[in-house]
Amino acid sequence: MTRTDFQPSRRSDVAPFIAMDVLAEAAKLEAAGRRIIHMEVGQPSAPAPSAALAAARAALDNGRLGYTEALGIAPLRQALAGHYKRTYGVDVPVGRIMATTGSSAGFNLAFLSAFDPGDRVVLTAPGYPAYRNILKALGLVPVEIEVGAETRWSLTPDLLDKAQADGPVKGVLVASPANPTGTMMTAEALEDLVRYCDDAGIWFISDEIYHGLDYADGQKTALETSQNVIIINSFSKYYCMTGWRIGWMVLPKQLVRPTERIAQSLYISPPELSQIAATAALGSVQELEAVKAVYAANRDLLLGGLPGIGLDRLLPVDGAFYIYADISRFSTDSLAFARQMLHEAGVAATPGVDFDPVHGHDYLRFSFAGAHDDMKEALGRLAEFLS
Ligand SMILES: Cc1ncc(COP(=O)(O)O)c(C=O)c1O
Repeated sequence: MTRTDFQPSRRSDVAPFIAMDVLAEAAKLEAAGRRIIHMEVGQPSAPAPSAALAAARAALDNGRLGYTEALGIAPLRQALAGHYKRTYGVDVPVGRIMATTGSSAGFNLAFLSAFDPGDRVVLTAPGYPAYRNILKALGLVPVEIEVGAETRWSLTPDLLDKAQADGPVKGVLVASPANPTGTMMTAEALEDLVRYCDDAGIWFISDEIYHGLDYADGQKTALETSQNVIIINSFSKYYCMTGWRIGWMVLPKQLVRPTERIAQSLYISPPELSQIAATAALGSVQELEAVKAVYAANRDLLLGGLPGIGLDRLLPVDGAFYIYADISRFSTDSLAFARQMLHEAGVAATPGVDFDPVHGHDYLRFSFAGAHDDMKEALGRLAEFLS
């Protein structure tokens, strides 16, 4: 007789990504003929830069695509070293740069090479939900620290002191600009936190995926403060290449070989086609800045228009393409509110509970990575819905 009592592992019991559930519900409405404005998913609507597409076409015409070194192809790693010199004035040895299958693979690899089962890793709440899900699935312990307006939605050494009092902290992960808040740490706040971790022997993981998308004073990489940090980045956001699944890491010297060994077994290598395209994308700044100008116009439009329709409690939108809005004057159930807004206004946004199980009931995340005309239309629809 066939047994029927096989069970999934306990570690696989991670929360679903609600943004994707909203996307699926929006797709159903679209299939039924409704026009939906998508502000739920954090992905650019622009295609990959033309040079990246041309490089990929040429690679396809040449025929063979194969495995590459687990660390990635040399031209990409060299181009990334050039990017650090050009953008931040930092010299990074090519040997410490590793291409990954999106930043998502970078997190898996970094967590595996830096931590052992049971290690505690500090995250912010609100924060990107995959961090805690990956940590949990790998047998690590996410320690989520609530951040708020008093620390400009960032972690501070004081908050880390408190977390350390409850048990040793092995790692800290921050994103600046952050998802879902779009808020950036000041240069000093980032430096203070990196130095604290350096002194305390805590791995500092800097998710720099939204670098390039800042609307204020420019940004610093954590590499400017310490060579012990783990940098995770991606071609998904600024470079408009989500579907190519290509990212990179800058690793401290002692983690390069361990991470390479794990990658060899887990993924073998990132897709060669995407590595070739990404190399070309690094030279496409002009085209990408034009895309960013649309985000900047969308940001101005929404920051100008949302307060007038009742959404006036917004976090600082320093970077990325998100607005994290306090909706508590309308509802304290962001999940139900997002669903109602989708059905009645045809505007899809992500409930804050995705990012913060405790206070997220009071928030919605709006992504403004879409077309400018769509944002205008969304504002009109929201005005009617909220009136
Ligand atoms: C903060 C943050 N990090 C990482 C990722 C994952 O991106 P990817 O795997 O496409 O590089 C995302 C995606 O939305 C994100 O918002």
